[in-house]
Amino acid sequence: MLALTGRTRPRARLTGVASYLPERVLTNAELETMVDTTDKWIRERTGISERHIAADDQATSDLALGAAQALLRSTRTSAADLDLLIIATTTPDHIFPPTATLVADQLGATSAAALDINAVCSGFVYGLAHATGMVESGLARKVMVIGAETLSRIVDWNDRSTCVLFADGAGAVLIEADDEGDPGSGVIGFELGADGSGKDLLCIPAGGSRRPARSEGVEPADLCIQMAGREVFRFATGIMVESATRLLQEAGLTTDDVDLLVPHQANSRIIQHAAEKLEIPPEKVVTNIDHVGNTSSASIPVALAEAVEQGNVAPGDLLLMVGFGAGLTWGAGLVRWEPRT
Ligand code: COA
Repeated sequence: MLALTGRTRPRARLTGVASYLPERVLTNAELETMVDTTDKWIRERTGISERHIAADDQATSDLALGAAQALLRSTRTSAADLDLLIIATTTPDHIFPPTATLVADQLGATSAAALDINAVCSGFVYGLAHATGMVESGLARKVMVIGAETLSRIVDWNDRSTCVLFADGAGAVLIEADDEGDPGSGVIGFELGADGSGKDLLCIPAGGSRRPARSEGVEPADLCIQMAGREVFRFATGIMVESATRLLQEAGLTTDDVDLLVPHQANSRIIQHAAEKLEIPPEKVVTNIDHVGNTSSASIPVALAEAVEQGNVAPGDLLLMVGFGAGLTWGAGLVRWEPRT
C-alpha cells in the first residue's frame, strides 16, 4: 500500500462480515471418551455442546482464507482493491512469515500491506481499532480484518479444564472509507486496555524466546494453554462491564442505544452475567458458544456473521463488541452495521 497522511479524513465503515468453520465437529460426548468429564458438566459450566476442529492438513491461514473468500464474495469486493490485511491470531501458521502475508498471497491481494497482531481473545477488537485508525487517517481505504485460530493445536488434550473450551474457526470483516459519513455513523469508537500483571493467569509457558521449546525440562504441556479458570472468570465478568460502560459513556450513549451486544464467546455464564449487569436483554445478545466454543480472536466476527446470516442485524444497527483474554487484554468497540447494498 502507498499513501500519504492527511490527504483525506474519511470515516471508517463496517460493510461486510463472513466466517469459516472447519467441517469436523467435536461433541461433548466424544470429549467424555477423552478426559474425565461429562456432557452435563460442560454444558452447565460453559454453555458449550460442540465445537469445530481443523482437519490435520488445515492451518490457521486455511481457515482465514475461507472466511476472506466468503467476505469478498458477499461484498463483491476484488482482492486487488484491498490496501491492508490484518489477521488477529494467537495461533499463526509460523512464528514468521506472518499468516496475513500467506492469506494475502492466496487471495490475490497484491496491493495490500499485511500483518498479524496478537492480543489473544481481544485481538479482533484491537484489529478493528487499528483498521479504523488506518482508514480515518487516510492511510488506507479498504481493510480486511480477520480473526482466525486453530486453538486445537495449542490445547492440552489431557487437561479437562481447558480442552473442553477452545476450538477453531475464522471470521472476517471489511472496513471501508466513507467520505460522506455523518458523525454517529460508521465506526464510533473503542476502549482498549491491557494489564500484564495478569500474564500468568492464562498463558503458554514455553515455546517463545524466554523458554524455547528445545530448552531442558520443557514438557509437552508447557507448550499448551494453561489457565487459572476461576481468576480468569472473575476478570472477564468485571472487565466486560467496565470496558463497555466506559466506552458508552465516552460516546454519550447508553445500553438502550445498543441494538446488539456481540461478546467474545468464552463462557455463556460470563456473557449472561455481563449482559445482566449492563441491562441488555437476552434477545439483544449474540450467543453461539453452544456450537462454536471459544475461538479466541475469531469468536466475535464468527458470532456477528451468524447473527447477520440469521437476519438478526438490520442496516444501521448499533453493535457493541466486547472482547477479553490473555495478556490480560480487553477491548470494546461501538460500530454501526452498514452493509454494502
Ligand atoms: N469436567 C468435569 N469437571 C471439571 C472439568 C471438566 N471439564 N473442568 C474442571 N472440572 C472440575 C474441577 O477439577 C473442580 O473439581 P474439584 O472441585 O474437585 O477441584 C470443579 O470442576 C470446579 O472447578 P472450577 O474451576 O471451580 O469450575 P468453574 O465453575 O470455575 O468452571 C471454567 C471452570 C473453566 C469453566 C470457568 O472457570 C471458566 O469458564 N473460566 C473462564 C475461562 C475463560 O473464559 N477462558 C478464556 C478467556 S478468553
